[in-house]
Amino acid sequence: MMSKQKVMSVFGTRPEAIKMAPLVQALRRLPHIESLVCVTGQHRDMLDQVLNIFSIQPDVDLNIMRFDQDLTSITTRTLEGLAPVLAERKPDLVLVHGDTTTSVSAALAAFYQKIPVAHVEAGLRSLDPYSPYPEEMNRCLISRLAQLHFAPTAANADNLRRENVQGLISVTGNTVIDALLSMVHDTYEFQRDFLRTFDFAAGPMILLTAHRRENFGQPIVNICRAVRRLVQNHPDLRVIYPVHPNPQIQQPVRQELADMERLYLIEPLDVQEMHNLMNRSTFVMTDSGGLQEEAPALGKPVLVLRTETERPEAVVAGTVEIAGVEEERIYQAAYALLTDKQKFRTMATAVNPYGDGHACERIVACIEEWLGTDGGC
Ligand code: UD1
Ligand code: UDP
Repeated sequence: MMSKQKVMSVFGTRPEAIKMAPLVQALRRLPHIESLVCVTGQHRDMLDQVLNIFSIQPDVDLNIMRFDQDLTSITTRTLEGLAPVLAERKPDLVLVHGDTTTSVSAALAAFYQKIPVAHVEAGLRSLDPYSPYPEEMNRCLISRLAQLHFAPTAANADNLRRENVQGLISVTGNTVIDALLSMVHDTYEFQRDFLRTFDFAAGPMILLTAHRRENFGQPIVNICRAVRRLVQNHPDLRVIYPVHPNPQIQQPVRQELADMERLYLIEPLDVQEMHNLMNRSTFVMTDSGGLQEEAPALGKPVLVLRTETERPEAVVAGTVEIAGVEEERIYQAAYALLTDKQKFRTMATAVNPYGDGHACERIVACIEEWLGTDGGC
């Protein structure tokens, strides 16, 4: 009888967990593979929210998060924490996701023990090493460390080929669409009282998120001021903002936006509440990567609160617009969406450049073939 090969998925933040969870579930169903999960706990509360929703109990939890942590400490704590775990468990393959510091550190830890690495969500590029920072450099480094590269789109795969990245490159779609489609239901009933009693029919509602490191300081203040003006100038507009717990975001957001009528600063939502809230929103304003992928699939226009994006597909399709980080430009972009019906209709066409909800199946098939656990088919 063939002995089981071990695949260890390593992740640590909310977006990695959301995008890896359906893959972990799919790996668990394979008879010839032992699926292990190691979380770094780079995020504590927001990671645990995702693990709960997807019923995933990690085999190992490094629990590295510290208040207001810096990049060096995330890196060193992950490297030091993973070394004995990899030495003891000896996985045949380590899966990492995307571009976080957990991901690049886990890929490096695996490389140090000559364990092959597979990279889920490979090949996104902004080509500016400082934007998004440090994510652009993280994903470039992971591409050098990994042997298997699961690219969400053909353009992502082209980026990797252009860089002469070694190993197997496969276009799979993005697992975030697998997660989204399993969460969104038109008849969904919200758990949180505030959302259960919210009158979605009473007027437009913008879903807002912002957390990126390159938006710390003046950009996040500009974003807040643009949103404040929007609410003041549109009497029926409501804005819901689940605020990221990072103190570098909490402090300016609470200072600029506290106690405003019709502008609701709320705790981070679990992924099911979030996906269904997005489904009920009028449009989305965000600097998040994941939201740029999810909202287009739901036919929700997105204003990106950044100066660039490594996710150009939905911009080309017309659903996503780069609104920048200057107050006036953000205000005008949102004002246009609220008042220009034609513009809104054009942007609200549902497009799905990031996947069809079957990315995990494709990734699992590649892994099985690569490990030789597919029975040779
Ligand atoms: C990280 C990722 C970023 C990703 C984002 C998703 C890096 C360098 N950054 O950034 O790519 O887009 O996650 O949200 O990997 N905190 C809590 N509870 C939590 C999570 C965070 O209190 O559940 C607070 C802590 O004080 C923590 C701080 O937020 O120190 C920052 O967390 P960190 O993971 O370093 O940065 P993010 O901005 O979340
Ligand atoms: N998300 C969530 N609750 C929230 C805000 C976001 O579940 O309160 C989800 C969102 O739908 C997406 C993911 O978290 O799936 C994106 O995470 P984030 O914006 O923190 O990181 P990024 O994608 O920018 O790396």
